[in-house]
Amino acid sequence: MTKPLVFITRQIATDATARLQEVADVEVWPQEDPPPLSVLLDKISHVDGIITMLTDPINAEVIKAASPKLKVISQMAVGFDNIDVARATERKIPVGHTPGVLTETTADFAWALILAAARRVVEADRQVRKGIWKPWGPDVLTGFDVYGATLGIIGFGRIGQAVARRAKGFNMRIIYHSRQRKPDAEQELGASYVSLEDIFRFSDILSLHLNYTPAAYHLVNRERLSLMKPSAILVNTSRGAVVDSEALVWALQNKVIAAAALDVFDPEPIPPNHPLLFMENVVLTPHIASASRETRRRMAFMAVDNVVAALAGKPIPYCVNP
Ligand code: DGY
Repeated sequence: MTKPLVFITRQIATDATARLQEVADVEVWPQEDPPPLSVLLDKISHVDGIITMLTDPINAEVIKAASPKLKVISQMAVGFDNIDVARATERKIPVGHTPGVLTETTADFAWALILAAARRVVEADRQVRKGIWKPWGPDVLTGFDVYGATLGIIGFGRIGQAVARRAKGFNMRIIYHSRQRKPDAEQELGASYVSLEDIFRFSDILSLHLNYTPAAYHLVNRERLSLMKPSAILVNTSRGAVVDSEALVWALQNKVIAAAALDVFDPEPIPPNHPLLFMENVVLTPHIASASRETRRRMAFMAVDNVVAALAGKPIPYCVNP
């Protein structure tokens, strides 16, 4: 009997691929860069399952091209804003994702950015490498204290709460804003719910952890940035489109806020010559918040679990369709 065929749009952990090979023939896109649209259109038109990454535009056009036998679109990420879930649902194709397994790793990285931006770690490293070691001086590379500061978190789900948990060790005041209040988490973490305006007003460090939906587009805009303290730091590990980057450039250039640390951008990669690339008070990383070896392996296995279930005709365990 022929096995079903699954396409994976990037190489994933070899043991996760091997698990999938027990039940399917597997084709893997061999390059580090994402497959072009023409490849996605071709593959999806004849496979039984597909494992996608957040860089693959699984839009209406791609879903329209899907084979009638396609049983699952399994995204190796918790976010799935690159997938037109409504179209997939119309075609009764389950869409899977990988929640939970990357929470702690992503929270660790948000903290790496918080500390790097507040204490100017990257700027200092650049100076040392360039041979600029300014002798110790009262004002040399002074940053902002994290200990005892107010941490604002927008989006108080798994990752936002994991970031807050770490903040307790820094004796921070924690405020949050999310669509719904989370009384249990408020109690556990000593966090206070505030309005969207107040989180911009009162945060010393504002870290974004909301799921991306069209309603979150440019939530961080010029008007809200204007509410922030001149000493405030903005950290984004959610999705680039949450921040209006032109407004952010304006805020940083005009010292409306002090610094930013961004792991995500809209579009990705950030265009060459973007003004943020030339600002000392900006830390930029290429969407790597979940990039630990263990976590990427766990994500790969979870994505495979979704495919294995779908191929067996069972409901997928981590489904995003309504
Ligand atoms: C996700 O999973 O959505 C992150 O952005 C990448 O791991």
